[in-house]
Amino acid sequence: MVRTILHYPDKRLRERGRPVEVVTAEIQALVDDMAETMYAAPGVGLAATQIGEPLQIFIVDIADAEEPSDLKVFINPEILERSGDIAWQEGCLSFPGVTEEIDRAAKVRVRAQGRDGKTFELEAEGLLAVAIQHEYDHLQGTLMIDHMGPLKKRLTHRKMVKRADEQAST
Ligand code: NI
Repeated sequence: MVRTILHYPDKRLRERGRPVEVVTAEIQALVDDMAETMYAAPGVGLAATQIGEPLQIFIVDIADAEEPSDLKVFINPEILERSGDIAWQEGCLSFPGVTEEIDRAAKVRVRAQGRDGKTFELEAEGLLAVAIQHEYDHLQGTLMIDHMGPLKKRLTHRKMVKRADEQAST
């Protein structure tokens, strides 16, 4: 089922994800909804907090449109190592129409559980590393606007508030 993606300044985006104790069928159904929602958007990543489910879960798929899908599921993710620097023009499904160049680690090593509940470790670089750090931020209640300088932050906040007001009145 495609879920509604929350847009900034929705306060639920500031909630931290709670750890998932057991990967139950219910959690797997949530992961499947997240995937459907991300592909429908479309986007390259989605965190559970973006659909109002404050749990430690995010998904990423950085495959190009013409490539087969490559869904990666991260439950209870931990970033074990970060190295190098990379700046990437990022977008976010919770900030439609907004992009920002954000400094990230060029490589990360992550440990998480997959949809099957099994623990895995993954080394990522480039776009995958960026997407993982962006989604990991979401689970801490950190949003792309927090990475902006004061002026851009103010402009983005106003733009998003105006957008939310317009949508509420239609
Ligand atoms: Ni995002």
